Order: sequence, then structure tokens, then C-alpha cells
Amino acid sequence: MSALVVAANRLPVEISATGEATASPGGLASALSTVAVVGSTWVGWAGPGAGRLAPLPFGDTHLHPIALSPGEEARYYQGFANSVLWPLFHGRLRREEMNRSWWRTYRIVNERFATAIARTAPPNATVWVHDYHLLLVPKLLRARRPDVRVGLFLHIPFPNAQLFSMLPWRQEVLAGMLGSDLIGFQVPEDATNFISTVQRLSEVHADGQRLRVGARTVEVDAFPISVDFSRWDALGNNAARAAVVLRAEMDVASILLGIDRLDYTKGITQRLQAFEELLDEGRIDTEHCAFVQVAVPSRTDVPAYQDEREEVEAIVERINSRHRRPNGHGPVRYIESSFDDTGLAAWYRAADALVVTSLADGMNLVAKEFVAARGDGDGVVVLSEFAGAAQDFPEALIINPYDIEAIKSALLTALSMPDGERRSRMESMRATVRRHDVHHWAQHFLERLGAVPGERHRLS
Ligand code: G6P
Repeated sequence: MSALVVAANRLPVEISATGEATASPGGLASALSTVAVVGSTWVGWAGPGAGRLAPLPFGDTHLHPIALSPGEEARYYQGFANSVLWPLFHGRLRREEMNRSWWRTYRIVNERFATAIARTAPPNATVWVHDYHLLLVPKLLRARRPDVRVGLFLHIPFPNAQLFSMLPWRQEVLAGMLGSDLIGFQVPEDATNFISTVQRLSEVHADGQRLRVGARTVEVDAFPISVDFSRWDALGNNAARAAVVLRAEMDVASILLGIDRLDYTKGITQRLQAFEELLDEGRIDTEHCAFVQVAVPSRTDVPAYQDEREEVEAIVERINSRHRRPNGHGPVRYIESSFDDTGLAAWYRAADALVVTSLADGMNLVAKEFVAARGDGDGVVVLSEFAGAAQDFPEALIINPYDIEAIKSALLTALSMPDGERRSRMESMRATVRRHDVHHWAQHFLERLGAVPGERHRLS
């Protein structure tokens, strides 16, 4: 196979001002870290503290850090990526946010990435670009390096044509994406939305999932991302004892668990409201059941995230003050902090049910991690129909997160599900993740990318 260059907004590690490296937040970084191919190169941002850094080795790979000034971080990352594209693609644009200077900086930073990739990619390399931060890179890169093969994978949903058309820079964004040879989405509906958008906004001819862009072919398909099954399976088994300690600490018969970045797309308030109503109605008893919500602080400089944090904290406080247990504890244990994977695995093993109520979600890797970590074969998954993972897990209790009554009945069903049923549903979900793990995902994408016929100018 040709040399591989991976480009994502974040490198797999975040580097602090003092040079300390920690794992980058989010599912993308953790998924990609597990598929680091020996000898591959990564181009990305090392986080806000990093400043300018020279290329550095990382395991068997090389990292090429891209520097962002504080103003660029504000306009490109917090602004265009996380206050325009993120809410628009999740169907949750709050107000008029089409800020033109954010867009200009987004273009400048995308050019910087394209230039850095063009300089580092060996002749005829394969370049794999990730996510909504870098949608202009495929076209910019092709102009600089017509010899490379370019794949783009979008980790978040792709909106329908009408929503996407709200973007004043829709033509440039679409043209940027169409610089790819292969564009991968999480689920078939995202791929279909993309093709309808192309048909609505351009002259490009679509033959099924094959688009003709000038003399080139651009292929479009769904490649549902996954997790490293064996790693999470081992983490779960190693956490069995820690899970017993957590359960003893909680001192209740049943634990419902939510683990999310503190993001307004995750539906955290909806699930807590459902839990609160069940307590109010006496259908759940604080002595028997507790809700553990881990909320990992995320994008804390973006106002919508600050609002979400306030809302979540307020509902937790309300539930805990209205339903205090005789021992003085509230029924919601709210942990606003990040965890390493060992700590997460302990909660996954301690819980009776994982509750995922995303209002929109590309995949939701937490659901897949939970399943992979349950080597004990137990545990129920309550899962939003709007998370990509719902398409892989028909055995989960699938709910519409906007329907509070539906969440309530799923929580009750989860808490009373007979042992045999829990185990057979879990066994089948585990078989799915075991078969379609993150290695399978990466291999499948790269094989397809390698097979796309292209108008390439080969260098020797
Ligand atoms: C989602 C996005 C990723 C992103 C992650 C963490 O999973 O798809 O691209 O890296 O969230 O968000 P952050 O803004 O901290 O990179």
C-alpha cells in the first residue's frame, strides 16, 4: 500500500505548554489512535497550549503539528467549526451565526493544513482527511498535489439539502469535499443527504453513489465507525473489581449511566427529566436506583456549551434537592470531569444500563465501548434512534429522545428486563462490535479508497 498521511483537526495527543502529552478528547481521536499504521504521518493541531512545535515521533508514527494563534482558534475552531458547522450539521443552529470572519479564518486554516500535507506526503501517497474542520482540504490538496489519493471521512451527521443550503459558503464547502476520491459517512442516510445536496446545488452527475466531477470519479458511501473491541473487552475485564467498589459506594440496587461530552446535542437534560418524572411519580425509588452522569467538559469557550452546562447543572441540583435519600445523597451522581479509559471502563462495568439520548449523533462510540467492555455479558443499552449506533444495535431499547414518555418507559423496561433477555441482547450486540471493530472500519475505508479509479498524475 502507498504511504499514509492522516489529517484531522486534532492530533491523537494534546500537548501542553510544558510539553506534556495527554490523549486528545473525543471519539475521533481515540478511534484513530487505535488504527495508527506503522510509518504513517499525522497532521493536526496539538491543542491550545502547544504553540509552534517541530514534527515529532509518536509510537510508530510521525506527528506534524499545525499551530493556531489564539485568534484562529477562536474564529476557526470555536467559531466556524463549532458554532456554524457543528450545530448546522446536527440540525441545531441556535441563531444567526453565519459570521464572515470565522469563514475567512476557516479557509486560511484549511489552506495551512493543505500546504502542510502537500509538503509531507510522499509521492503517490494516500491522504485520509477527517471531519468537519477540514472540509476544504481535499480540493486545496488536489490543486497542490495531483498525485495523491484523497479520502474524506465525516464523523458527524450530514444534514439534508435544505439545511445545508443555508450555508452562505455552501458552494465552496461542497467543492472542497468533492476534491476527494472517496467520501465516507457514518450511516447511509448521511450519504444520501450528501448526494441530494450535490444534485440540488451543482451540475455534478450522480450515478448512484458514484459522482462524475469533471474527468474524475468521486465515490460516496457509509462506513460506520467502531471501537477497538479487544482493547475495551480487556479494559472491562480488568475493571471488574473497581466496578464492585463503585457499586458498593453507590449503595443502590440499580445504576443508570450516562457518559457524554458536555454537549447540547447529547440530550442530557432530556434523560434527566425522564428520570426526575419517574421519581416524582414514585415509579423509581431513590433507595433502589441512582443515575450516574459523567459529563466531560468540552468546547468551554463556546457560549452554547456554557448554556448547556448551566442547564444540566440546574436540573441535577433540582432533582437532588427534591429527592434526597435518607443518607443525604441525591439520586443523581453528577461527575463533571474527564476520565481515562480505565476509569470509564469501571463505570461501564458497574452500570445496569447505559442511557444514550443524543438528539443527533454521527455514531456515538460510548454505546460501542460499553458493549465491548461488558465481557460479563450483562447490561442494557437505551439508545436514541438519532445516533448512528442505533442502526448497528437493533437489540438496544431504541427511543426518540424528544419523547420523554418513551425515555421513561425504556428506563423502566431496562430496570426490569429478565436476566436471560439482557444477556441474549448483549451477546448479539457484542458479536456486532467484535466483527465490525475499528480495525475493520479503517481497513474497509482504505481498501475502497485504494480501488477508486482516478485521474492521477503519478510521480516516480
Ligand atoms: C466529535 C468530533 C471530533 C472531535 C470530538 C471532540 O467526536 O467529531 O472531530 O475531535 O468531538 O471535540 P473537540 O472539539 O474537543 O475536538
